[in-house]
Amino acid sequence: MGVGVLQQYRDLLPVNEETPIFSMGEGDTPLVRSRQLGPELGCSDLFFKLEGCNPTGSFKDRGMVVAMAKALEERSVGVMCASTGNTSASAAAYAAYCNLAAWVLIPKGEVALGKLAQAMAYGARILLVDGNFDAALALVREFTKTNPITLVNSVNQHRIEGQKTAAFEISDVLEDAPDYLFIPVGNAGNITAYWRGFVEYHQLGRNEILPKMMGFQAEGAAPIVRGEPVPYPQTIASAIRIGNPASWKFAERARDQSGGVIDAVSDDEILEAYRLLASREGIFGEPASAASVAGLIKLKHNGLDLTGKRVVCIITGSGLKDPDMAVSSAQADTVEVKPNLEAIENAIMETLPAR
Ligand code: F0G
Repeated sequence: MGVGVLQQYRDLLPVNEETPIFSMGEGDTPLVRSRQLGPELGCSDLFFKLEGCNPTGSFKDRGMVVAMAKALEERSVGVMCASTGNTSASAAAYAAYCNLAAWVLIPKGEVALGKLAQAMAYGARILLVDGNFDAALALVREFTKTNPITLVNSVNQHRIEGQKTAAFEISDVLEDAPDYLFIPVGNAGNITAYWRGFVEYHQLGRNEILPKMMGFQAEGAAPIVRGEPVPYPQTIASAIRIGNPASWKFAERARDQSGGVIDAVSDDEILEAYRLLASREGIFGEPASAASVAGLIKLKHNGLDLTGKRVVCIITGSGLKDPDMAVSSAQADTVEVKPNLEAIENAIMETLPAR
């Protein structure tokens, strides 16, 4: 472990003698057992997969390393993507490492600042589009059809191939697949990738179980739940502010073949889960990532029986990407004190937790 996904899972990836094998440290992310939320939800076997621990702080790096290796193999001059932020950060970093040009199309004013800062720092050419993610992706698809630049959104199958390795890792660590997998859904590439990974391991006899795939969109950006595209998607979870997911059909297939659901959670439910994850589990995910946990809480309240079930929630990206959201939504106790010991003592006495 720790050698990167291309090396670790090369037999199950589209790798041949011509494919460069390299790693920026992606994959092998922690699977952390819940200490508080799980027991409170009647689920003694709840785990969080911390994909924010990847090199650029999101799960995109797993897919990007494969897409970039194939772009190098094909002697591409550069890569291009549309993004709600994380894909652009990842594409920019891996392009820098591989000495390829990167063009990223970002919906103007709709991307968390940390993600924009990453794309800038890694030296991507940033095009701020006066439109939403869906419009930007349509433009990138059109442009790359006729230009020798590699599209690195998840419509590129190499991205999906790389991202399926997270399902392998979970299965390797738990020595089987979980009973339920809770995951946020935006462009629907990741749920597609996890399902592919679990199915492949099952076919190889490495998993007995096939998990139920439980995907969650934000209520104001829930085209799959509504059954039609959402022209003006709205949610505080900017990463999944997507109205017409590219992998829509594959997500439905994952849901139907696994006996799972794709449901919606409100912004309030997302924010509540975001706070609980950080304050009760010490896990700082970004708001979109908290949709998985919000979904678990919602279904539990609706009567889902988790007794004896093993559940994994995917925490897709780091909370550090969006510090504005953290500060504006926190209920932190900040106290101003004079710089002397008495003031410190008084402040501590006032805020001692009751035992
Ligand atoms: N969580 C985070 C943190 C994301 O950045 C995304 C997607 C998702 C969940 C949803 O994954 O699209 O595969 O269903 N972010 C893309 C981007 C769209 O441009 O960074 P999905």
